[in-house]
Amino acid sequence: MASSWLELACSFAVIFCLKATQAEWNTNDYLKREHTLVKPYQGSGMSLPLWDFTGSTMVTNSYVRLTSDHQSLQGAIWNSVPCRSNSWELHVQFKVHGSGKNLFGDGFAIWYVKDRMQTGSVFGSKDYFVGLVVFLDTYSNHNGPHNHQHPYISAMINNGSLHYDHDRDGTHTQVAGCEAQFRNKDHDTYVAIRYHNHELKVSIDIENKNGWKECFSVKGIKIPTGYYFGASATTGQLADNHDIISMKMYELDDDVEEYTGLPTSDTMEAPREHIEDEPKGAFMLRNMSGWKLLIIIILSFIGLGILKVETHPPKLIVVAILVTWRIYASCLQE
Ligand SMILES: *[C@@H]1O[C@H](CO)[C@@H](O)[C@H](O)[C@H]1NC(C)=O
Repeated sequence: MASSWLELACSFAVIFCLKATQAEWNTNDYLKREHTLVKPYQGSGMSLPLWDFTGSTMVTNSYVRLTSDHQSLQGAIWNSVPCRSNSWELHVQFKVHGSGKNLFGDGFAIWYVKDRMQTGSVFGSKDYFVGLVVFLDTYSNHNGPHNHQHPYISAMINNGSLHYDHDRDGTHTQVAGCEAQFRNKDHDTYVAIRYHNHELKVSIDIENKNGWKECFSVKGIKIPTGYYFGASATTGQLADNHDIISMKMYELDDDVEEYTGLPTSDTMEAPREHIEDEPKGAFMLRNMSGWKLLIIIILSFIGLGILKVETHPPKLIVVAILVTWRIYASCLQE
């Protein structure tokens, strides 16, 4: 009897362990050490095997700091072994933090590109690059009415011909993006970049829930083997600490032939021009006849009136009638 209980307990324990590892990542078997950076970072002084640095990058026991929270810095870290895997997934643990409450920047970028160790204007690295980049942009460039919230994560594919326009946030060249509040978190924050069967998928784990949440995925992306992984960051007028804690690369099984051409993307978000949108209200007004509008306005004010009538009866109704009349009159004038 005792032994069967023991058996039962053991099998539960085994099932539980299996589940737990599966829930974490099920790609553990394919971890590629040559593209992986984990603690303890082994190396003497500032040098690490397999990884090279540029600029302000500094290694401590617990993080690789691309920039500290000071102005006008740029730093990068580059893997020295080209990637031979056709499909892969890169997990990056990072920490972006600093003293700025409202003013901070600029963010960092994770690269898979042809040329490594080239400093430049795109988050500290080369513009007109050849490959893939994922930006984790914390600096809000005022970008007209379509301006998204920051921080913002986006991806760009380049064959060397495209310029990344930081003043416009790169939104003219991105393949996709999402908003993500990853800055100044007390818990660990992660981003996963998965390139599998010509699909690019970016996921984040920033809410301390130990699970991935999709940021975006895009099909029809082709990037060749033989490029290098890296990460870079800049500060300008505004600053932050940009820390890389770990980078883990997993090779994935796939169903596509090895690709050796230039990076391409079937889709790019439609280039948009910098024209001010009409406010939504004006658009509605123009497309509605005066009478329809009048009826809608009256109905909404009656609704409001019923809701509020017990608190401020006479005042609200007078205001409602005046406002309704003003809007109606201005519509008739058009
Ligand atoms: C490079 O990309 C640009 C823009 O996406 C495209 O117009 C051009 O044809 C590409 N060049 C090559 C050699 O593929």
